[in-house]
Amino acid sequence: MKSAHILVQLLFLSLRSAASAATGGDQFVYSGFSGTKLTADGTATVTSDGLLELTNGSTLLKGHAFHPSPLRFVRSPNGTVQSFSATFVFAILSVYTDLSAHGMAFIVARDRNFSAALAGQYLGLTDIQNNRNHSNHFFAVELDTIQNNELNDVNANHVGANVNGLISLQSHPAGYYDDNDGSFRNLTLISREAMQVWVDYDDKIAEITVTMAPLTMGRPVKPLFTGTYNLTTVVTDVAYVGFSSATGTINTRHYVLGWSFAMNGPAPVIDVAKLPKLPRVGPKPRSKVLEVVLPIATGTFVLAVGTIVILLLCRHRRYAEVREDWELEFGPHRFSYKDLFHATQGFEDKHLLGIGGFGRVYKGILAESKMEIAVKKVSHDSKQGIKEFVAEVVSIGRLQHRNLAPLLGYCRRRDELFLVYEYMPNGSVDKYLHSREDKLKLNWAQRWAIIKGIASCLVYLHEEWEKVVIHRDIKASNVLLDSDMNGRLGDFGLARLYDHGTDPHTTRVVGTMGYLAPELGHTSKATPLTDVFAFGIFILEVTCGQRPITPSSRDSQIILVDWILEQWNNGSLPDTVDKRLESNYNVDEACLALKLGMLCSHPFANARPTMRQVMQYLHGEMPLPEMTPTDLSFQMMAIMQNEGFDEFNMAYRSSTVSIGSKSAISVGR
Ligand SMILES: Nc1ncnc2c1ncn2[C@@H]1O[C@H](COP(=O)(O)OP(=O)(O)OP(=O)(O)O)[C@@H](O)[C@H]1O
Ligand SMILES: *[C@@H]1O[C@H](CO)[C@@H](O)[C@H](O)[C@H]1NC(C)=O
Ligand SMILES: *[C@@H]1O[C@H](CO)[C@@H](O)[C@H](O)[C@H]1NC(C)=O
Ligand SMILES: *[C@@H]1O[C@H](CO)[C@@H](O)[C@H](O)[C@H]1NC(C)=O
Ligand SMILES: *[C@@H]1O[C@H](CO)[C@@H](O)[C@H](O)[C@H]1NC(C)=O
Ligand SMILES: *[C@@H]1O[C@H](CO)[C@@H](O)[C@H](O)[C@H]1NC(C)=O
Ligand SMILES: *[C@@H]1O[C@H](CO)[C@@H](O)[C@H](O)[C@H]1NC(C)=O
Ligand SMILES: [Mg+2]
Repeated sequence: MKSAHILVQLLFLSLRSAASAATGGDQFVYSGFSGTKLTADGTATVTSDGLLELTNGSTLLKGHAFHPSPLRFVRSPNGTVQSFSATFVFAILSVYTDLSAHGMAFIVARDRNFSAALAGQYLGLTDIQNNRNHSNHFFAVELDTIQNNELNDVNANHVGANVNGLISLQSHPAGYYDDNDGSFRNLTLISREAMQVWVDYDDKIAEITVTMAPLTMGRPVKPLFTGTYNLTTVVTDVAYVGFSSATGTINTRHYVLGWSFAMNGPAPVIDVAKLPKLPRVGPKPRSKVLEVVLPIATGTFVLAVGTIVILLLCRHRRYAEVREDWELEFGPHRFSYKDLFHATQGFEDKHLLGIGGFGRVYKGILAESKMEIAVKKVSHDSKQGIKEFVAEVVSIGRLQHRNLAPLLGYCRRRDELFLVYEYMPNGSVDKYLHSREDKLKLNWAQRWAIIKGIASCLVYLHEEWEKVVIHRDIKASNVLLDSDMNGRLGDFGLARLYDHGTDPHTTRVVGTMGYLAPELGHTSKATPLTDVFAFGIFILEVTCGQRPITPSSRDSQIILVDWILEQWNNGSLPDTVDKRLESNYNVDEACLALKLGMLCSHPFANARPTMRQVMQYLHGEMPLPEMTPTDLSFQMMAIMQNEGFDEFNMAYRSSTVSIGSKSAISVGR
């Protein structure tokens, strides 16, 4: 009887929401998505409650959803893109209240195939080599919850308007201007609250307007920001509208609750009352019956006994951690959560050293030994592989080299893993290279010593230890400086081991854009030579004092390797050396560093030297093979002919590591 009643209700509900998708050629409104026919891919799906779930909590994945039919944005042939308006209600639910990854975007795109796009900071929209390529043909309004400096992000909680890529034309911290007093009010994208965004394009003045507000409020009069950009060059005559979203390494769900769109007029009003409910974060709610009956039946009991029990549990729960039998054998490397909690004064923000792609790093002092530590808080969402991971962490803990930042141990708690490193008082090399402050300077002798130190550490990891250790994330922020300003390689959170002479398993690509060897794009297989590639980029970054990729103007970025090759071609290689050194550096060493850096970051793995050879070059025990920029191109063409040539390398070379892309052409002619 009762279930029949519920069924009828359900049927009624879904009919109602299906009807809410209004018809009309160039406008629509979804107040909830039950019964609609969106085209979705990746992690995107419509839940049984009628929410559009773009990402489902799995990490490093992407999802897209589009209105089923394309819309005509240009009326007459060779005309301009017409005005349009969109509004949507969204919510971002991360397992953490203060950290989430990576974000979502409303998009107008030429096609719906984003299979080649990357997750993470690329939001499922494009990849590094095609970022801002004019043939992308998409317009996006991003809701971004992570700050990526290489993409010029203003902070880790902003809204931006983007064209063909991830570097915003215009962006603003999330929030709204109060209608009453005109003051700006912050909104937190990852607050788990539903919020509404309005996107308008006015074709008369080529103006993009973005406005946002909490769901409970109407549309504020003053927009969050406006930008001028003529979308006629971007949006194609016929284009799809929808959403894209991607996760990073943090378990996050991105939802759209309602959405409407109109061409040449205001977007229809979304019926807020009909919007589906967001799921609760945390354990699943019980069934309806239990939800009503249980509290009444047990209410009194819980009140009486519960209070006492909870008081006792609170103390215990505060320090609760996950320990399993198999971990006993790892003994001394296991820290207690309580010790780490006290060492960092409860992971206080004032002890935060920095935020990276995998979580936050805090400074702490161990109560007993008074030792200074750096604690990296990493979130992981599955038990799978954790045993292997911990086993690896522990064996990595046995590594000893004077240019390594020692990994002291780990701790595990619910879905968090803590990695404990020795604290390095002088921070990381990137701070020195890219800071404008005068006191944060590295002279040439220090830089040269850091390069040699890290090289010897990599020889140790690749060849001298009992197993081959591949670091996989060599970059300036992972090279730390101890009290004597010695370079020390840190961050073994990502390293994986394999036996000498065996093949590593294929795994997901990890690492950082700009330092990733091109072959990782199609094999995903980290090897010592992919480390050599990243090390080459590191040498260049240290010598030139510039990031591997520097966004320059609105539509372009300077690829460090490209720029050096160009200067080298013009016979002015030493001009690329960091201007902050003035002329206080050893020209021979600097030129050797530049050429070696170029050789190490050669797009073809087998043209790169091994770390042992790199050491010999650095110490002058072996002369660097004679090479000119033109030689590099000839070499590359030979390799292309011998090994066959795939599209990936072509695409990659032409934009990212284009050793020879320019010169190869000029040689050919
Ligand atoms: N052992 C340490 N001692 C002192 N500072 C550290 C230590 N480890 C990390 N840091 C600081 O914390 C910051 C954040 O480190 P984190 O490793 O999370 O980010 P990242 O290196 O930028 O990126 P990735 O996650 O790819 O390693 C670094 O920039 C560094 O300055
Ligand atoms: C999320 O979606 C992906 C791809 O559709 C799937 O492989 C994965 O198991 C899903 N994860 C969860 C937690 O549902
Ligand atoms: C549109 O532009 C193309 C190329 O710019 C031109 O060949 C064509 O004649 C134009 N069509 C109209 C209707 O103006
Ligand atoms: C999407 O594009 C990729 C290449 O980027 C291609 O391999 C794939 O076949 C395309 N898929 C569809 C459905 O067109
Ligand atoms: C832009 O993309 C197009 C099509 O995918 C490609 O042919 C072109 O080489 C790309 N341009 C750059 C600079 O990567
Ligand atoms: C908004 O956030 C910024 C940065 O987080 C902060 O500096 C500012 O004080 C906040 N403003 C208000 C009104 O809360
Ligand atoms: C936008 O560009 C198109 C084509 O280049 C042009 O016809 C149109 O006038 C431009 N719109 C504005 C507002 O400048
Ligand atoms: Mg790091």
